[in-house]
Amino acid sequence: MKKGLFITFEGGDGCGKTTQIELLNKYLSGKGYKTLLTREPGAKGLGEKLREILLNYDGEVSPNCESFLFLADRAQHVDCIIKPALEDGKIILCDRHTDSTVAYQGYGRGLNLERIYQLNTIATSGLKPDLTIVLDVDVETSMKRVGKEKDRMESAGIEFFKRVRQGFLEIAKKEPQRVKVINSSDTIENIHKQIVELVEICKN
Ligand code: TYD
Repeated sequence: MKKGLFITFEGGDGCGKTTQIELLNKYLSGKGYKTLLTREPGAKGLGEKLREILLNYDGEVSPNCESFLFLADRAQHVDCIIKPALEDGKIILCDRHTDSTVAYQGYGRGLNLERIYQLNTIATSGLKPDLTIVLDVDVETSMKRVGKEKDRMESAGIEFFKRVRQGFLEIAKKEPQRVKVINSSDTIENIHKQIVELVEICKN
């Protein structure tokens, strides 16, 4: 039986998720909640190995293979880390999850969206976030923040990132109850306040 709360953070590269996850973690810990900070790809254990391949392998990777690697990472993450933490009553703050595969592999790489939704459901055994926060960043800002040292995904080019951004906005339109979009060009403090409000509503 699920007892905790599952919150995911999504958005383009360089949208400021990491800063906001850390601020929210401080806020929740300060209120006495047990939290778990985690991420995809690259949660503790096997996820770290899969992340290394996904972000740093420098040979050819087919879009289909890339999707299955993200999905394999997700299945392991859900089964071995997320579900046990939920059962333990924790609030999980997860940096990227299913919506990244829809936005990056679906909208970005152009794979069939229906199929990605189905594969996501298989990888998660149907578990869905209670709340998803998309930090919306314009592509120019995103590219500037990423800088010159790009990993395999970040090297995909500006048109790719425009499609990814559009993808996140479409996801939010389809599931407005779960997915909330926040403009990431606002100040760190204002964004934090908006996130706290959303989390408080979701907890009650
Ligand atoms: P990461 O360094 O964690 O990026 P960020 O700090 O922006 O979150 O790298 C994760 C990369 O993997 C990022 O470019 C998004 C991409 N990704 C996908 O393409 N599909 C997915 O399903 C996931 C989880 C991530």
